[in-house]
Amino acid sequence: MEKEIIKQLQNKETPLYYYDLPLLRKTLNTAKAEADKYRYKVHYAIKANNNPEILREISKLGFGADCVSGYEIEVAIQNGFNKNEIVFAGVGKTDKEIITALNCEIMTFNVESVQELEVIVQLSEKMKKNAQIALRINPNVDAKTHQYITTGLDENKFGIMTHELDTCLQIVETSRFVQLVGLHFHVGSQITDLNVFKRLCVKVNEWNMWFYERGYDIPVLNLGGGLGINYSEPDKESVVNFAGFFQLFDEFLEARKNQEIHFELGRALVANCGSLISRVLYIKNGLKKNFAILDAGMTELLRPALYQAYHKIEKVEENSENLAPEKYDIVGPICESSDCFGKDVVLQKLKRGDLIAIRSAGAYGEVMSMRYNLRQEFDYFFKE
Ligand code: LLP
Repeated sequence: MEKEIIKQLQNKETPLYYYDLPLLRKTLNTAKAEADKYRYKVHYAIKANNNPEILREISKLGFGADCVSGYEIEVAIQNGFNKNEIVFAGVGKTDKEIITALNCEIMTFNVESVQELEVIVQLSEKMKKNAQIALRINPNVDAKTHQYITTGLDENKFGIMTHELDTCLQIVETSRFVQLVGLHFHVGSQITDLNVFKRLCVKVNEWNMWFYERGYDIPVLNLGGGLGINYSEPDKESVVNFAGFFQLFDEFLEARKNQEIHFELGRALVANCGSLISRVLYIKNGLKKNFAILDAGMTELLRPALYQAYHKIEKVEENSENLAPEKYDIVGPICESSDCFGKDVVLQKLKRGDLIAIRSAGAYGEVMSMRYNLRQEFDYFFKE
């Protein structure tokens, strides 16, 4: 981090979310350029980070949006995303949310059950509004990621079980307003083994053919998101392998010439540009451990407590004198033992007031923050 920025941070109240906008733009441009090579369309998964500054950067570059609630649809539109480039997923869409989406004439409802499809049919008829849908198929592909963020297995709640697809087709056939335009898949998040996507392609090819053989030449294949990032080395030039990701689909996906290929990326676009900046409140020497107690906790960044997720922890400014490194458990102030950002973290000796950066917090960081313990709102810093 540049000296000038460190100086500014030292004058700010903590905790705060720090966003490096030039880095965000660079990541977005790389993703866009790689996707453009194959004419792939990328929708940004708003759930990863809905900060308006970030949303506007992303919409400006021509990404579509992937939303999971009616309010996300509204926020997407307010921040520059085109209505007809919005896809809407989620297993529990309420009537009100479906009505919002029908009124906005979004690109597709990514339908997750027969029951939801029936409600979309009813509401579209009542409102005399067209509804374009994609059927989210649960392909039973193991994403080999944390159990809480895997979504494409038979035991997961997401997507339509394949034995119900015939029923879905019958329902669509009887509706005057609902049109089947897409097949949708999403198998999980933070996927770093690209073989998972190869297995996804095999399944997508099978289902694409299954529909084709029944007379459905479906125009859109939406392959979801899930591309993982390198949490261990956030400063590595290519933290995300966009080139390898898109190239893999080009190689293994058997789409027909007229089919559009869409993706829904969240983490890969925004994780790296964000850090949670916090101050050391106390260094507490326990019997077995030294604790560095920060003014940020699981209330600001939940991922370590919820998924035992690793985030690189750094001292923002290394002191000039040659301080020996020490080992700390880096913990927050919240009354939960899981309120821990890292165990046995080796850092140059810390003291009260030192600034700490918890890296790669741009995705599923700010959005998952909460008010437990009646925590105060945190601040922001945008590097322009
Ligand atoms: N599409 C669908 C249908 C999704 O459910 C998700 C994420 C995405 C796209 C975007 O996935 P991404 O490219 O960001 O992996 N809170 C967890 C992650 C939950 C992901 C939920 N779905 C975490 O902090 O790791």
